[in-house]
Amino acid sequence: GTGKFFVGGNWKCNGSKDSISKLLTDLNSSTLESDVDVVVAPPFIYIDQVKNSLTDRIEIAAQNCWTGKGGAFTGEISAEQLKDIGCKWVVLGHSERRHVIGEDDQFIGKKAAYALSQGLGVMACIGELLEEREAGNTFDVCFQQLKAYADAVPSWDNIVIAYEPVWAIGTGKVATPQQAQEVHVAVRDWLSKNVSAEVASKTRIIYGGSVNGGNCAELAKEEDIDGFLVGGASLKGPEFATIVNSVA
Ligand code: G3H
Repeated sequence: GTGKFFVGGNWKCNGSKDSISKLLTDLNSSTLESDVDVVVAPPFIYIDQVKNSLTDRIEIAAQNCWTGKGGAFTGEISAEQLKDIGCKWVVLGHSERRHVIGEDDQFIGKKAAYALSQGLGVMACIGELLEEREAGNTFDVCFQQLKAYADAVPSWDNIVIAYEPVWAIGTGKVATPQQAQEVHVAVRDWLSKNVSAEVASKTRIIYGGSVNGGNCAELAKEEDIDGFLVGGASLKGPEFATIVNSVA
């Protein structure tokens, strides 16, 4: 793998004060391998609760942010506000924001550039739909999404790429280790040709889509899988810890 193993837990629009309190207790009492970056992404409104009760061992991400400085943008949250409340990271370009909310490549690129400018790390998501995979367009789709980030950001130092095939997200249909590895290699190759060899060798590429306690170890063995972005299984403390500890 490349760099330190990285595991993010994306809680999506789930949880309540009570269920999150229980999850925090479980996370705080879990034993996590030291050589892994661990990050959780709660819904905005619970970030303060998480910041106040979660061990510093685990960093906090937001699930989205605004494209620029705050102001008259009803319903939005700025990167400055995320920094202020203790976030280190933000998830951008998630398939649910692309395909359910309708965010496009350019809008996502703008968010990534602004978040980086404010000192946040970016988990930059990419991934193809099932029909795109079946049409043989997986690489083209991923490369186009990568290009939008590359065109917008001045540096890849604080970016982790999350490859999440949309057909694998929340479906229980995890990509095989070979399917994931194949795309991760292609992404690294794209970075090498279009950004630099250094960025290609240093940037972590993590996999997301139905990762769980039972399938993480096989995936983690693949050379170019540098960690995971976990949805459903990140809502269970012990299972999330198992995934963190799958570092090969
Ligand atoms: O951000 C996380 C991914 O969308 C994966 O979600 O693990 O529930 O399939 P999932």
